[in-house]
Amino acid sequence: MTAQVREIDAGLPITRFARGWHCLGLAENFRDGQPHGIEAFGTKLVVYGDSTGALHVLDGYCRHMGGDLSMGSIKDDNVACPFHDWRWQGSTGKCALVPYAKRTPRLARTRKWQTHEVNGQLLVWHDQEGSMPPAELAPPMIDGYDDGVWSPWQWSSIRIEGSHCREIVDNNVDMAHFFYIHHAYPTFFKNVIEGHTASQFMESKPRPDFTPNFDKLWEGTYLRSEATYFGPAYMINWLHNDLGPGFTVEVALINCHYPVSHNSFVLQWGVAVREMPGLPADKAEKLAAGMNRSFGEGFLDDVEIWKNKTRIENPLLTEEDGAVYQHRRWYEQFYVDLADVSSDMTDRFEMEVDTTHAYDVWHEEVAGNLAVRQTTSQD
Ligand code: FES
Ligand SMILES: [Fe+2]
Repeated sequence: MTAQVREIDAGLPITRFARGWHCLGLAENFRDGQPHGIEAFGTKLVVYGDSTGALHVLDGYCRHMGGDLSMGSIKDDNVACPFHDWRWQGSTGKCALVPYAKRTPRLARTRKWQTHEVNGQLLVWHDQEGSMPPAELAPPMIDGYDDGVWSPWQWSSIRIEGSHCREIVDNNVDMAHFFYIHHAYPTFFKNVIEGHTASQFMESKPRPDFTPNFDKLWEGTYLRSEATYFGPAYMINWLHNDLGPGFTVEVALINCHYPVSHNSFVLQWGVAVREMPGLPADKAEKLAAGMNRSFGEGFLDDVEIWKNKTRIENPLLTEEDGAVYQHRRWYEQFYVDLADVSSDMTDRFEMEVDTTHAYDVWHEEVAGNLAVRQTTSQD
């Protein structure tokens, strides 16, 4: 008997944007006295800082005749439209003044977006139902961030066309891609999903066949990683890098995104390194910059896959593929009305992937590659 061909179910396009906190970038970059335009959630936002330093986010298109507020300027702490100089108040969204008119339509309002600043970053709350953000959903402050023990963020962003942001969120449960795409050997891999959070605990070593001068690397080189999505789009990844005997570098990696459309998103990542004896501020900052570059290369390798893959609702999985379906169920909670969030999306769920078989196979593959490398370098 021949088995039936398994078909790919590409599903229906996603037609709404996730409910939750989305990071727009480093807060300080918006405090330059200028309005900033951000294409997000199928529209345009305008972001600016007022004279007290408070950051405001409004709909980017002026309610008068649709002018682009991000092309305007800041006047008396309001954003002034470049078209006819209407003034919009960031703290309330109210029309503050129409300088040339006898009567300003003071009851008129544009959409004001809820903001939250944490870890030096600006976040906006999106919910198509228009809810206010519950306090317990705000991503936490990184331990020691306010004490200045972390190097300044080394921050990068790329706009990815032709992919839905669910692709990057899928990565959270994908043990095997770390070997093939990111050239790391996971030795331990576990996910814990609960409420609005989804965590990944991973321990890994670098792949020697992809590490230049691997023989110079300390044999105990090891990465212990704890990463948590706080909502649909903001992940904090705590990385403990054992780089030498008794020398562990603490790294914070932010992996966050916001959707531009249903088929494009902006991916951002920031790296900070904790200062410590043997790792003073300037060295920590340099190390963070280097790590930002290498994480960037890693993300670009992911992007190549996303751009060329198909959307798939029915992935065919093995035991080593982990909690893909459970994790997508968790992610689904951000795409339905609050009233439709069910307990199977938010109940605690844990899954550890048994990495032993994969490890043995990969070990042989790497040994084979190293042997080839050695014969070719001797030639
Ligand atoms: S369109 Fe903005 S002031 Fe007229
Ligand atoms: Fe990845």
